[in-house]
Amino acid sequence: MTRRLGIFGAGGHGRSVASVARAAGWTDIVFFDPDWPVRTNNAAWPIAGTGEDITEAIAACDAVHVALGDNRKRLLLLDSLLSAGAEAPALIHPTAWVCPDCSIGRGTAIMAQSAVNIGTRIGRGVIVNTGALLDHDTEIADGGHLSPGSVLAGTVSVGECAWIAVGAHVLPGIKIGSDAVVGGGALVHREVPAGVTVVGVPAHSLDT
Ligand SMILES: CC(C)(COP(=O)(O)OP(=O)(O)OC[C@H]1O[C@@H](n2cnc3c(N)ncnc32)[C@H](O)[C@@H]1OP(=O)(O)O)[C@@H](O)C(=O)NCCC(=O)NCCS
Repeated sequence: MTRRLGIFGAGGHGRSVASVARAAGWTDIVFFDPDWPVRTNNAAWPIAGTGEDITEAIAACDAVHVALGDNRKRLLLLDSLLSAGAEAPALIHPTAWVCPDCSIGRGTAIMAQSAVNIGTRIGRGVIVNTGALLDHDTEIADGGHLSPGSVLAGTVSVGECAWIAVGAHVLPGIKIGSDAVVGGGALVHREVPAGVTVVGVPAHSLDT
């Protein structure tokens, strides 16, 4: 029997998630988005409702995924759905390399051509975006986002809901605090405190 996946958030990231799900074998995919019924589809996939009533949305699907770009909002909605009994498997693109001994939390998306190396632990509601590279023993807390082409050297840890933007590099063993932002193309060579945004090569705080 065909299983239906409901994706919350019909934006560009939602489309990317749907394409990962399709590649991973999901054939029946619908979206939920507050813009329904003004919008009724997202690329090839229908928008089935607003998703505001999560009990109703969960009942209409076999599994769900939250595809909101805002890390905190994504984690909050995922936790509400999980508390309400939803199934939210990690979605992993078939071209991603995920070492078998890694742990991947519920509701996490692992996109095409990314690599998750030995000993890595990834929490729930994380985005490992296209071509992101996570070397051995990295730790990504819940709600983190590793943007396309970002590179984490071994034993890096990324705090809850932190964002590593496109093409940034983080040197071995560095800790990135919760809700911190590492700007596109940055090279991080020392700890980034919680809530701080850093940019540049080498990375420095946007506030200094
Ligand atoms: C770090 C970032 C989030 C900061 O955004 P912001 O707070 O809106 O910052 P602003 O655009 O106002 O820029 C503030 C200053 O930082 C500089 N700056 C911003 N991003 C920078 C970056 N990645 N590298 C170097 N300098 C940067 C700007 O030039 C500006 O400098 P100025 O004050 O001397 O003119 C953003 O620039 C960034 O890197 N985004 C990445 C986007 C991305 O990866 N998207 C993919 C999603 S999957």
